[in-house]
Amino acid sequence: MVQIMISGVRGTRDIVLDEIEQWQRLERVVREICHRYGYHEIRTPIIEREELFSKGSGESTDIVQKEMYVFEDKGGEKITLRPEATPSMVRALVEHSLEQELPTAKIYSLGPMFRYERPQKGRYRQFHQLDVEAFGIESAALDAEVIEMAVQIVNGLGIKDIDLVINSVGCSACRPDFTKALLNELGSRVSELCGDCQRRSKTNPLRIFDCKVHNDQSVIDTLPHTIDHLCSSCRTHFSEVREILDRFKLDYKVSHRLVRGLDYYMRTTFEILGNSIGAQDALLGGGRYDGLVKVLGGPDRAGIGFAAGLERLVMAMPDESRETLLTDAYVVAIGDKARMPAQILTRDLRHAGLSAVVDLEAKSPRAQMKRADRTNASHVVILGEDELEQDLVSVKRMDTGEQETILRADIINYLRRE
Ligand code: HAM
Repeated sequence: MVQIMISGVRGTRDIVLDEIEQWQRLERVVREICHRYGYHEIRTPIIEREELFSKGSGESTDIVQKEMYVFEDKGGEKITLRPEATPSMVRALVEHSLEQELPTAKIYSLGPMFRYERPQKGRYRQFHQLDVEAFGIESAALDAEVIEMAVQIVNGLGIKDIDLVINSVGCSACRPDFTKALLNELGSRVSELCGDCQRRSKTNPLRIFDCKVHNDQSVIDTLPHTIDHLCSSCRTHFSEVREILDRFKLDYKVSHRLVRGLDYYMRTTFEILGNSIGAQDALLGGGRYDGLVKVLGGPDRAGIGFAAGLERLVMAMPDESRETLLTDAYVVAIGDKARMPAQILTRDLRHAGLSAVVDLEAKSPRAQMKRADRTNASHVVILGEDELEQDLVSVKRMDTGEQETILRADIINYLRRE
């Protein structure tokens, strides 16, 4: 058989070695904060019906137009790898009547998403999100609570140098007026824009603000801002959000360009940008989507949430927050007779909740000591034939080099105390 090296798929990555510890820490912090804010974890499938996103995320979005991994399964069903979690969360909310089951309908999920984008640093074809969604409350108080929680997650991971940006994109009552103003202002200059924007001007003019094409920016900069065209209830809602954020003493900027790349948003939108991670700097983004539950066949319920890109959070986490998991004990057996007792001792340590490693390859004591060093063990527990006879073990602290001999029966308590 010909041997060939098969590499991973472009835009995907393996999480290996030290990086996994950062992911584990990230997941611990995130779950803890979600719990503190009253969110329940749910897990939804990676494959969904394609129409969940064409209806939910929006037919005219880049995600649906260009980025979804869609295929027909063997039963002829049109399936997609989920490009985002929000429509799935809404589907699960409706399908399981979670609003009735949970005291407050606040749910979160962690998992991989798939978008066929051009890969670069911080942008992948398979990436991971923390997705947080809350339902049933229209009040600006929830917008502010959700935004504050997003900041808390970033802070909780030790990430510094961030910008919180917010905007309001209005509602179905004020959007038509805004669209009219935008198309008026654009006028004949629409022909100066890229092909995508020309299409957007016909299907969904708000999406023009998503454009990244350099030459389009001078025209886009002259277009009107959604916040200047809000109806009175959207205006009040936005000022209430701002008032609470001010009372929370959160620093934020209002950015009229923040329309977000998905069609379901109304009223508040927000993002947190990380200034240390390069061009793909959106650590998380979200907003309010009051019509979506109904569009996806559920009751008329308000909704708001955000999703954070875990790869980007890991990139932005400071080095000192890297947590190296120490092994409590590396058990070294000296001489053949000590091998089996060392293996049994190791099992006992593990059963007592300590992490322990033992050499199973009959290496020399010197080789075992070297391994102990590389394993990042806090202690080496040495079991020689002498110790064995007297029911003793020697314990060496790896940081100070101190060594003492104790009763074998005391080793668990000794290590626990340490
Ligand atoms: P989104 O802005 O498309 O929103 O994605 C949220 C976050 O996912 C981004 O800020 C970024 O950190 C990360 N992300 C997106 N695409 C990639 C990629 N290709 N590679 C790496 N990271 C990426 C949503 O997905 C909405 N569902 C958020 C939401 C929840 N709105 C309301 N509820």
